[in-house]
Amino acid sequence: MDKLVVTGGARLAGEVTISGAKNAALPILCASLLSAEPLRLTNVPALNDIGTMLKLLAQMGVKVERAGAEVTLNAGALSNPVAPYELVKTMRASILVLGPLVARCGEASVSLPGGCAIGARPVDQHIKGLQSMGAEVGVEHGYVVAKVGRLKGARLFTDMVTVTGTENLMMAACLADGETVIENAAREPEVVDLAQCLISMGAQISGAGTDLIRIRGVEKLRAASHRIMPDRIETGTFLCAAAITGGEIRLLGTSTGYLDAVVDKLLDAGCEITGEKTAKQESIHIIAPPRLKAVSIRTAPYPAFPTDMQAQFMAINAVADGTAVIRETIFENRFMHAVEMQRLGADIKIDGNTAVMKGVEKLQGATVMATDLRASASLVVAGLVAEGETHIERIYHLDRGYANIEAKLNALGANIKRERA
Ligand code: UD1
Repeated sequence: MDKLVVTGGARLAGEVTISGAKNAALPILCASLLSAEPLRLTNVPALNDIGTMLKLLAQMGVKVERAGAEVTLNAGALSNPVAPYELVKTMRASILVLGPLVARCGEASVSLPGGCAIGARPVDQHIKGLQSMGAEVGVEHGYVVAKVGRLKGARLFTDMVTVTGTENLMMAACLADGETVIENAAREPEVVDLAQCLISMGAQISGAGTDLIRIRGVEKLRAASHRIMPDRIETGTFLCAAAITGGEIRLLGTSTGYLDAVVDKLLDAGCEITGEKTAKQESIHIIAPPRLKAVSIRTAPYPAFPTDMQAQFMAINAVADGTAVIRETIFENRFMHAVEMQRLGADIKIDGNTAVMKGVEKLQGATVMATDLRASASLVVAGLVAEGETHIERIYHLDRGYANIEAKLNALGANIKRERA
């Protein structure tokens, strides 16, 4: 298995281009299943998860053409509405095919994703919503099996705010008979990006970005083009990388608009951050102080602080001046990076979903293990300031969600080598 070797000590400077958002691209790729006409997407990031989703769609009969960041999908002839375990187990977001398949084909068989490193992550809300829309849904041999003539519009309420749950049900409702209302909907910008793509395909959706989304079902959707929004978590990760090294960088093709909670905390930590806009593109400029101040965070659904940035802020707090408290409220087991950071010398005490951290002057390089996508990113960020070499093993997680992270960081002055196994 590949590993990364990070030699700490470099101050980041320069410009980096942010890729399209993984968590917007994945549901939008699935939206292609809703129409017999082609969907053309640009700014699709080059990530392993995108490759997995394209493979999944292709084995269902979707014709996929990919040229760099442009992908065209044609689901004119769907032959096999099945998502097999072999693909789903590597990527939980595969569950996003369920809603579109049931809506378009009247049937679907999607493997249950099983547990994952950061918690149980059930899909009961996806299932409950489809049942309320008239589908018969059961679990057979580890697969969610759904059948229906045509879905019927319904009033849906999810017990908790769920991002992919909202997306699945919103997509399903596009082809349902009548109006669907999703209450307690996720307000994440990726939900809005998906809604915009669906609207350009002819869907009738209002309220995306609020907690009440209304969808009036239509008979069919048409061909469309859509540009994937910038990745706000990649943006946040590069902001943290610049911040921890006392650096100054400009992030191109992205905006502070999706990142208020993260930017606020970096300002509290002592960074200067400005959003810039030219006719050509948006960008963010960050200047970090020599040493950051510790900042406490509490994760919660958008627009509050994102759970996907929690680990990177643990890296920052590990070397910041002062004490910080981190509370994780979304996932029950999302502190595995803490024990790895302790191996680098971080002072972290964990009690349930709360971590109390006291910043140390210096981290020391060591061998650490990446346990999930964002945990891996946090170890890279920590490695940038650890003395000597930090060896990060199991980095396949990182390749699922970051396009070329070591090349992008090295272009900013970091010293990261990939050692191929
Ligand atoms: C999405 C993101 C992920 C992010 C997460 C929270 C994608 C592809 N992934 O994941 O990067 O960390 O949102 O912002 O967009 N839950 C249930 N039952 C359900 C659905 C969810 O109990 O049917 C629980 C989950 O276990 C979790 C919480 O609800 O505790 C929120 O999960 P959810 O928003 O669904 O996360 P994902 O959509 O899987």
